[in-house]
Amino acid sequence: MTTRVLTGITTSGTPHLGNYVGAIRPAIAASRSEGVESFYFLADYHALIKVQDPARVQRSTLEIAATWLACGLEPDKVWFYRQSDIPEIPELTWLLTCVAGKGILNRAHAYKAAVDKNRAEGEDDDAGITAGLFMYPVLMAADILIFNADKVPVGRDQIQHIEMARDFGQRFNHLFGGDYFTLPEVVIEENVATLPGLDGRKMSKSYDNTIPLFAPRAELKKLIASIVTDSRAPGEPKEAEGSHVFQLHRAFASVQDSERMRDAFAAGIGWGEAKQALFELIDAEVAPLREKYEALMARPADIEEILRDGAARLRARYATPFIAELRQAVGLRNLSARAQTAAAAVEKAALPQFKQYREKSDGRFYFKLLDGQGDLLIQSEGFDSPKAAGELIAVLKKVDRADAMETPEIVLHAPAERALAALAQLREAEG
Ligand code: TRP
Repeated sequence: MTTRVLTGITTSGTPHLGNYVGAIRPAIAASRSEGVESFYFLADYHALIKVQDPARVQRSTLEIAATWLACGLEPDKVWFYRQSDIPEIPELTWLLTCVAGKGILNRAHAYKAAVDKNRAEGEDDDAGITAGLFMYPVLMAADILIFNADKVPVGRDQIQHIEMARDFGQRFNHLFGGDYFTLPEVVIEENVATLPGLDGRKMSKSYDNTIPLFAPRAELKKLIASIVTDSRAPGEPKEAEGSHVFQLHRAFASVQDSERMRDAFAAGIGWGEAKQALFELIDAEVAPLREKYEALMARPADIEEILRDGAARLRARYATPFIAELRQAVGLRNLSARAQTAAAAVEKAALPQFKQYREKSDGRFYFKLLDGQGDLLIQSEGFDSPKAAGELIAVLKKVDRADAMETPEIVLHAPAERALAALAQLREAEG
């Protein structure tokens, strides 16, 4: 089984070191590991929430696409696309909008922060707040759920959005009675997830404290020199922990080099010298990528072609058939097909069912048999693979002898007759 890893970057700015360390670099590394299917996309619909300058949206989309390609993304090995090239995403956004709790959206950090700011300024709660900002988490949930992503690498500020995606997906699954959506898990690259910016606050375009990833060498050097530090002189011992220069250094250095820098801080390295070392370190990693980036930026038509091709293949493979299934699930159906009556739906829901799942604590694969009311009848032991679990399910579905209930891989939670009756009911329903 492959794991689907999906990540997006809003196309509202120029990629900075924080984006690179927090999202792009770990995502590209993960895409190269075995058993991973990666999805990278340019979240240009999200950009419209913040940016009403069309030239900037276009420019940023180009810059971010070129950045990912320069950083080693291989568009024939991973899915690389632009959100607005996948019309199934806004379509799913609406389906999710209709199950998302408004109360949950009220609690979204970004929206709440905007309301708090209004209150502090004595304004109306929702002054200047668009419905787009409010709906941001639903659009993001659609990005993730449309491809049934298992893992979503993001910055810490996005954790709540992934939780919301799980919530909306779960509500949909529950309401429409199926395992339509995989519930995504957030992935945070520990210790380098958020980089400090020039002023020490989180590096973010909203704080205007960023270091552009592909700033020319001279500018990179100047920006690093401008990182705010305290006024301790060379020779005075400095604490590595809590120093922004050190944190940035650690994000690019090997463990050994980072420890060496920690010792240098304790020994009183001057800020100028520490910043020079930081500059050389970052430039050594970035310079070869910068060269590729500049070559790519000179050929925007090629990038356009790569993105369109990615979206077209991805839609045909997943998004278009999946949205058809979802439309069916909610009742956007061909009218000539016989309507499933409410009674038939209830009958279907009342069938016993096998549920297969993976236990997080031990990573093994399990199943259980539930009756129509959801009572546990049979619980399996852990299997090494979903296939092994599935094989035993297939056997159980076929047998009708009581001794099958003595299989060592299962534990009965109800009288054997009840479990057998449920299996018989399933057999009949499945024909
Ligand atoms: N909101 C994310 C950010 O600002 C960008 C994003 C949009 C995203 N859709 C996504 C990230 C889906 C991961 C998955 O960083």
